[in-house]
Amino acid sequence: MWSVFSEHRDFSVTHINKSIRKGKKMQNKLAEIRAKAIAQIEEASELSSLNDVRVAILGKKGELTAVLKSMKDVSPEERPKVGQMVNETREAIESKLAEAKARMEAAELEARLELEEIDVTLPAKRGTMGYKHPNAVALDEVERIFIGMGYEVVEGPEVEYDYYNFEALNIPANHPAKDEQDTFYITKDILLRTQTSPCQVRVMEKGKLPIRMIAPGRVFRADEVDATHSPCFHQIEGMVIDKHITFADLKGTLAEFARQLFGQDVKVKFRPHHFPFTEPSAEMDVTCYKCGGKGCRFCKGEGWIEILGCGMIHPKVLKMSGIDPDEYQGFAFGVGLERIALLNYEIDDMRLLYENDARFLNQF
Ligand code: DAH
Repeated sequence: MWSVFSEHRDFSVTHINKSIRKGKKMQNKLAEIRAKAIAQIEEASELSSLNDVRVAILGKKGELTAVLKSMKDVSPEERPKVGQMVNETREAIESKLAEAKARMEAAELEARLELEEIDVTLPAKRGTMGYKHPNAVALDEVERIFIGMGYEVVEGPEVEYDYYNFEALNIPANHPAKDEQDTFYITKDILLRTQTSPCQVRVMEKGKLPIRMIAPGRVFRADEVDATHSPCFHQIEGMVIDKHITFADLKGTLAEFARQLFGQDVKVKFRPHHFPFTEPSAEMDVTCYKCGGKGCRFCKGEGWIEILGCGMIHPKVLKMSGIDPDEYQGFAFGVGLERIALLNYEIDDMRLLYENDARFLNQF
């Protein structure tokens, strides 16, 4: 009777003999594969050729894998021996591959280290150092002086209402300073502040008295750029309001400021001037510290250099911000920061302050 069992297990003598011969042939084949693989590995000079060997021998369609697949043809008696030999062959090839790979990687690392060798005796690159901008140096100095006199430092917005920049400072609607040539308008009522004076109004409106403050900041005017003009520059506003403040307080304070800034020998001079928000108004000049007042190229032969505008706060300005001018008086001043920075370092062109050329800035 036909059975599944008898078909798969044919124990006839001829079949066993055939199977033993098959086993022998496979042993020879394995020895051959092993010798060939090892020779190829020893010859290989790159990691990629090692991989080629791995695929050709141990890969899915590799020679050793093919031998493994034909194990079913080997007799049960021979099978363990052949199986063991397959394993040995695989292990031998794998360990040879690993060894070759390690050797190549070590050589590669060695070569790279040699190539990337760092010469610690080479001079190092210098790190670049930042320096304070002349404007910042001047501002620090001015703040230091006024803080020393008990002033508070405040700030106001750069985008300002027309009211604070002009109206509340007694600059009426038809005043020439309001000409659109000078002012950058954003809307009819909003502009880029043309001066730091609106900070006066903002501080007065808070209603806390007495006041002693300075307000540094950027201001904007529609000016062409040249050696003395820029559409954006800096001012420092100052204001004092208290009972019994007189023009003598203004003169004494600003003369002391000039002495601290330019040295004890500096002389000051107040020239009558006009500002809509102060009455009386003046400009303050200092003796040229280059020539001491004799006249030189620096002061254009004048002996004097103008450094600020000032005056007694106009009663109308006090009243508009809710301060009773019969009870309180005050003085105010406005300093051009760039003017101080340029004088400090004897720089004769304002443009140098804005170009941010490191070769210029590194000198300070
Ligand atoms: N704001 C004036 C300007 O930009 C400068 C100035 C003058 C400010 C007199 C003042 C002052 O506070 O009292 O030209």
